[in-house]
Amino acid sequence: MVNSRYPATRMRRTRQHDFSRALVQETKLHSDDLILPLFVCEGKNIKETITTLPGVYRYSIDNILQVAALAHSLNIRALALFPIIDSNKKSAMAEEALNPNGLIQSSIKAIKDKLPDMGIITDVALDPYTLSGHDGIVDTNNYCLNDETVAILAQQALSHAQAGADIVAPSDMMDGRVAQIRQTLEDASYSNTLILAYAAKYASCMYGPFRDALATTGQLGSSNKGQYQMDFANQNEAIHEVLLDLQEGADIVMVKPGLPYLDVIYRINQECKIPVFAYQVSGEYAMLQFAAQNGCFALEDAMLESLVCLKRAGARAIFSYFALDAAKILLK
Ligand code: PBG
Repeated sequence: MVNSRYPATRMRRTRQHDFSRALVQETKLHSDDLILPLFVCEGKNIKETITTLPGVYRYSIDNILQVAALAHSLNIRALALFPIIDSNKKSAMAEEALNPNGLIQSSIKAIKDKLPDMGIITDVALDPYTLSGHDGIVDTNNYCLNDETVAILAQQALSHAQAGADIVAPSDMMDGRVAQIRQTLEDASYSNTLILAYAAKYASCMYGPFRDALATTGQLGSSNKGQYQMDFANQNEAIHEVLLDLQEGADIVMVKPGLPYLDVIYRINQECKIPVFAYQVSGEYAMLQFAAQNGCFALEDAMLESLVCLKRAGARAIFSYFALDAAKILLK
């Protein structure tokens, strides 16, 4: 316990110099703490802007390879891939998700071919592939059918592993999906594929720009994902979700969104003793970008502060659309 008091204790002594502040700093952010999410689309030489996500683009595979190489040169060790699926390939049963030559499967192969030591994380969920924009198969009332969806998700995860993904990341929030994915991977001799479970994924408005990037906003219409994603009022439930995912075979768990959910990250890290990742989601990124564009603060400061705070709360690694920009600053 600290029991000394002024003037024996002057908290400002260690804050005097750059060097002394650096020496007592409790949390250090490194470029290899950062995971870069990338949006991949069909076509050649495509780099498309996303209005609600300034500085983030939809890239065709040839261009993704250049961004991946840049990330690699900045010591970013892993990429998270998200596909933009053409509307003529979407269907009620999301068959395209299992296409061994689909957009995601081809992207994994292309990146691994060029950068074999770059970690590849894939999103296991059906929202890019369904007509409804939901993460699973829906009935006539737009209700996501749990067990039918889980059976497809397990095959989707296997097809990612077969294409060379290192980590499959179920972000769908169906019950029992981690167990079935783990069993399917074991049965097919992919016992070393990691599962990063989006264990505490909240039904958040902050995924708005991501849904614009994937063009799923219109498909969802007035329907929302509260029937499977968590209520943002709940904290204990996150621990329950994490414990279940661990029992089912997850290696790493994710909290999402990030900054408004630091209490959840902190508690999981304290209580569960497993690696916790945070996702600084599209809406968080957009808030900082648009605030900086309007002169509220310097973008660089907001970027670094938000990332360090996520790490201070207990996030071991962070998905962030700022990954490239932050890594450039961190390597200076
Ligand atoms: C889809 C998925 C979403 C995000 C990652 N995977 C959106 C959603 O659940 O609607 C959001 C990421 C972001 O907002 O940056 N399963």
